[in-house]
Amino acid sequence: MSLHRITLKNGADLHGFRKAVRWLIAEELAPQHVMFAVDDAPGLFGDEALADAPPVSIPKGVSRLIEQVVCHTDPERYALLYSLVWRVLNGERDLLEIASDPLVHRIDLMARSVRRDLHKMHAFVRFRRMGGEALERFAAWFEPEHFILEAAAPFFVDRFRSMDWTILTPIGTARWDRTALTFGPPAQREDAPGEDSFEEGWRGYYESVFNPARVNPTAMRAEMPKKYWRNMPETAVIPGLIQTAAKRVERMIEQEATMPAKRTPERAIQAMWDQEPKTLEQLNAIIAKAGPLVPGATQAVFGEGPHHAEIVFVGEQPGDQEDLQGRPFVGPAGKLLTKAMQEAGIDRSQAYLTNAVKHFKFEQRGHRRIHAKPTAGEVKHYRPWLMKELELVRPKLVVALGATAVLALSGKATPITRSRGRATFGPYQGYVTVHPSYLLRLPDEGTKREAYEAFLNDLRRIHDLAQADLETGELPLAAE
Ligand code: URA
Repeated sequence: MSLHRITLKNGADLHGFRKAVRWLIAEELAPQHVMFAVDDAPGLFGDEALADAPPVSIPKGVSRLIEQVVCHTDPERYALLYSLVWRVLNGERDLLEIASDPLVHRIDLMARSVRRDLHKMHAFVRFRRMGGEALERFAAWFEPEHFILEAAAPFFVDRFRSMDWTILTPIGTARWDRTALTFGPPAQREDAPGEDSFEEGWRGYYESVFNPARVNPTAMRAEMPKKYWRNMPETAVIPGLIQTAAKRVERMIEQEATMPAKRTPERAIQAMWDQEPKTLEQLNAIIAKAGPLVPGATQAVFGEGPHHAEIVFVGEQPGDQEDLQGRPFVGPAGKLLTKAMQEAGIDRSQAYLTNAVKHFKFEQRGHRRIHAKPTAGEVKHYRPWLMKELELVRPKLVVALGATAVLALSGKATPITRSRGRATFGPYQGYVTVHPSYLLRLPDEGTKREAYEAFLNDLRRIHDLAQADLETGELPLAAE
């Protein structure tokens, strides 16, 4: 049998690859009879020939891997993915579960590399103001390792929706003009603007959140490889901060004896607050500057998720893992919540997760830091920030996880047994359910299973309510 040549676009040609797979499967062409090539202007493979090919049903996990791995720069990516699809459809449906299989292993490594690249791009793109423009416009230069521009761009639309921006890369450009996202040809570093007045802001922000007691240059370089540094204004201050870290720690220890808490004076925080934060970044800068009410937390843990998410989940306060990683719901309760959300059809990456209290409070017992419940006074202290956060995200539905979240959102202490179900929190439609850590604490398996089922039912209702909003364009939630 002759070799069939399939030419796909150079880059992440997901559409072309899917079409090709449908056609190849319909023609029953095994991978050894297919050769994939990439070209900037493919034309060898007519759309007509592919149009009639019926859809192919493949497991979700394989489909997700394809979306990621087509972004890899490895020229063999399409051939490897087609081999995977072929085997999955020919008797090896659970192939992905065999991690030791060389093909699965290689594809998994490729997917990880793409995800890491996406993460780096999300974290390290820095916009600069473009000079000489009548309207305010911003641009950023970034050099991704893989073809991730199209996959990464929606994140920036979400985060910088009200800005007119362009991301320039050697593999293409992404432009958001406040209404539409478009993609253009590759660019060069010289096309991006240089220093601007934003730089000082970034440096100042980095200095204010930098914790000298946790300096680990090797870990810093692993997380923020040097090749990204030249595009990031705040990196200019890193060598200085590292050099002076030991001295600053000494000073912190000396000051600790005389200062009740490492907090910026109330007046300075109030001055920032009076300027009314317009973005989550500005709000988070205030929370970071204010520091913990009760000393001990490593850092403030901010809300996380799309900045205009439909659903906001409010927990109590960060736990041990959240405190160390600086992200909400990443510890055991967070893992359980993520699993339940998934089972109820809620995509965690599309929701916004936050906490009533932004710092971890704990009791030290030996090496362990045991969670300590925040007092009503502490919840009240953080409440204006939580309310501002909701105002900036403007969700359709606010979910209170547990009694502390209910207290923070409603201002009233109400047991969950009385408030569970639909609710109203000021201008927001809401829903009250238990906190996932409550499920973890239940003593026996039977009760645990029952409580988990009830929690799942709540999440399914939450999912349906948010869906109903989407479809009708209105909030169908009336008081029960
Ligand atoms: N519990 C919470 O309420 N929030 C977290 O982020 C983690 C555990």
